[in-house]
Amino acid sequence: EKGGYDYFMLKEIAEQPKAIADTLLGRVGLDGQLVLDEMRLSDEELREVDKVVIVSCGTSFHAGLIAKYAIEHWTRIPCEVELASEFRYRDPILSRSTLVIAISQSGETADTLMAVRHAREQRSRVLAICNTNGSTIPRESDAVVYTHAGPEIAVASTKAFLAQIVACYVVGLYLAQVRGTKFGDEIATVMDQINEMPAAVEKVLETIEPVRALARTLKDKKSVLFLGRHVGYPVALEGALKLKELAYMHAEGFAAGELKHGPIALIEEGVPVVVTVPSPSARHRLHDKIVSSIQEVRARGAHTIVIAEEGDEAVVPYANTLIRIPQVPTLLQPLVSTVPLQVFACEMATVKGYDVDQPRNLAKSVTVE
Ligand code: M6R
Repeated sequence: EKGGYDYFMLKEIAEQPKAIADTLLGRVGLDGQLVLDEMRLSDEELREVDKVVIVSCGTSFHAGLIAKYAIEHWTRIPCEVELASEFRYRDPILSRSTLVIAISQSGETADTLMAVRHAREQRSRVLAICNTNGSTIPRESDAVVYTHAGPEIAVASTKAFLAQIVACYVVGLYLAQVRGTKFGDEIATVMDQINEMPAAVEKVLETIEPVRALARTLKDKKSVLFLGRHVGYPVALEGALKLKELAYMHAEGFAAGELKHGPIALIEEGVPVVVTVPSPSARHRLHDKIVSSIQEVRARGAHTIVIAEEGDEAVVPYANTLIRIPQVPTLLQPLVSTVPLQVFACEMATVKGYDVDQPRNLAKSVTVE
């Protein structure tokens, strides 16, 4: 059932274009309006929402961090993202007008389930984003949007992650539609852009070979650092998590702007630093800022691995290894920039001779708190 692949993880990485496409299927009605058919919250209830709180763990937490940028941008509703395991222990401020979004691939993660129960006790509405039909978290929630990534067998989450990001974006656009913070044509434009993502991910997969070679050359490194800004920051966290869980290497993700506040002290000769670069065409100045971060670590001897858009020439002089991704809108970049990091971690585990699908000490769903 591995479909000719050596590991489930490789098969699931390859299935990502389909996971995105299937999650998008049937979301736009004949009238052009978004439809979430598993949505049991009325438009009126959604119009009352004055705060969104996303709870989740691990990779699903990273999807939530990415979703925050889009949800706040499109809806102007404040959105917090919290590790489910921390959530209920700090007496969070919840009310009837709080929309809690629980993201879980398995739908059985105990920490997330406990956060859902806590939120419901406080009378908040709970929307689950889940990949497993009929699992506990969706059953205990007021509404559910399923990701249609198909069964994910490898312990390391890949296709579910990209599907979660897409589902969160659809939920964000739906909220914007219901509340009127975005016009129908703006929503249609973003949906068209999201609909192009399966092809963009396919393109990344076709050009991934150099990433495998890179893993082989870096296999004896003690530690790998990941940097990003904006939606690239959660991508950095995800790249580091993948490397920890699969290759048992020390890995850390940082917001690039934080470098000068401490982490730059870690940079020494030969340390691999993976940087995802925002589009130079975006209106904000983040691109130039991250290029100077790359320059700074490179000047201190880092081995820079730069993930940048096709056509971005500014990064070329500072990249020891350059990985190209297609040009996509800023908010959608995680859907393409995460893929090389997944492949990097998978290959690193393979060259080290570790079990890619069943890393030590880990279970696919964590049903204990
Ligand atoms: O099933 P869930 O999405 O609730 O699982 C959450 C985490 O346990 C999970 O994402 C974990 O971090 C993965 N092993 C990461 O690859």
